[in-house]
Amino acid sequence: MLTLVNLLNLIRECMSKTLIIKNKIKKFNKQIQVSGDKSLSIRWVLLASQAIGKSKGYNLLMSEDVLAAIDSIKRLGIKVKIQKNYCEIVGNGINGFKYKKNLIINAKNSGTLGRLILGLLIKSPKKVKIIGDKSLSKRDFSRVTIPLGKFGVKFSYHIKNKLPLTIIGTQSAEGIKYLENRGSAQCKSSIMLAALNASGTTSIKAKKSRNHSELLFKYLKIPIKVRKTKKFDFIDIKKPKKINSFNYQIPGDISSGAFFMVLTTLANDSKLLIKNVNINPSRVGVITILKKMGAQITLKNKKNYRGEKISDILIKSSKKLKAINCPVELNSSAIDEFLVIFLIAAKAKGVSYFKDLSELNQKESPRLIWGSKILNMMGIKTDLTKNSIKIYGQPNLEIKKPITVKNYLKDHRVFMMSTIAALTLGGKWKIYDKDSVNTSFPSFLKIVKDINHSPL
Ligand code: S3P
Repeated sequence: MLTLVNLLNLIRECMSKTLIIKNKIKKFNKQIQVSGDKSLSIRWVLLASQAIGKSKGYNLLMSEDVLAAIDSIKRLGIKVKIQKNYCEIVGNGINGFKYKKNLIINAKNSGTLGRLILGLLIKSPKKVKIIGDKSLSKRDFSRVTIPLGKFGVKFSYHIKNKLPLTIIGTQSAEGIKYLENRGSAQCKSSIMLAALNASGTTSIKAKKSRNHSELLFKYLKIPIKVRKTKKFDFIDIKKPKKINSFNYQIPGDISSGAFFMVLTTLANDSKLLIKNVNINPSRVGVITILKKMGAQITLKNKKNYRGEKISDILIKSSKKLKAINCPVELNSSAIDEFLVIFLIAAKAKGVSYFKDLSELNQKESPRLIWGSKILNMMGIKTDLTKNSIKIYGQPNLEIKKPITVKNYLKDHRVFMMSTIAALTLGGKWKIYDKDSVNTSFPSFLKIVKDINHSPL
């Protein structure tokens, strides 16, 4: 029997944090705009804090991860004003942070912030403690503390290589040689930011990963040389004399757009145009993979902006989806999109295979495991290993049963993947932690509602 207390709890839960979806999305023909790119927003905030004078960032993603970056630089003594159409940061030059003893910075859910900001702090005169939420506190920081240690930086921990950690800067840092072998842009970028404070040259041999930091360094005339080979990029950076302030218009985030690419592909007879999306070649793995699987995606109105590529993306529903043996070279350029790509594999003819993906279990939650879990709940068979997944597609998949998704680490992309599944594959879904979208894509549910033209 449902007691009054249980009933009240249930109502409270449903109103605040839980999304219930009982119906599939109706057919649509719409145009949308997704919010600003998260990687570029955080990089702009951090680099503007090192420039001299006033920089303005337009279309900055106003999500919890980016607000945490803004809060961090404010605590480090940088002036920030958030205006209606832009954010203004008054930088104090390289290593120009001014702050009191015992400073604590909260990176919240953001691995990008937690790892990149350490790079900026290698010559910090006073200790700084970095903390994070439950999810970030479970993630590995040795991947940046080991290479940063080569500059002479020291760290102290409660639990080795986990947050909370304290960084103890060095008085003088010399350039290092560093092999980045995971394909992690966070690790590469952390060392690139540290190089701004190191004399001589910092040389990085990095497995391919998103290259927004390199493009921003070039645009800012920071001495950087990049030589590309098939698997690795060789990056040399010299300490710049100064960084001039700069205005920047952040393009739309392809990782946010990806949820709507999959929504449209799986919906009935629908069409969607996503305006102004960053299509940096190191980020477009999702488009390449979906197209190989039979999705109908066209790029329109391509432009260049300060080294980045931008385009509108047109997607049409697709009835014939086929399985993929996903080439490992595409892994890093689709790393944040695999969860939602797995939904296409669930509806595809044949068995899809995604391999060499251990990095997926290093994200906000272990996503390879969670992807498999959700597919299994949907009635899809999977073969899961530590670094791969086989997905046995069912082209006629029609979910009939109730599904509840409660990711204990409140992973925003697990929430959004589940929402897209619920809207396209049937079943009655109860998806916990609606608020998690605020970390990367606060307008996600509003856009879903606009497309669906009826309340969820
Ligand atoms: C990011 C890099 C990726 C990605 C994350 C953002 C960045 O992480 O998953 O969402 O902005 O550099 P890794 O560097 O750990 O692969």
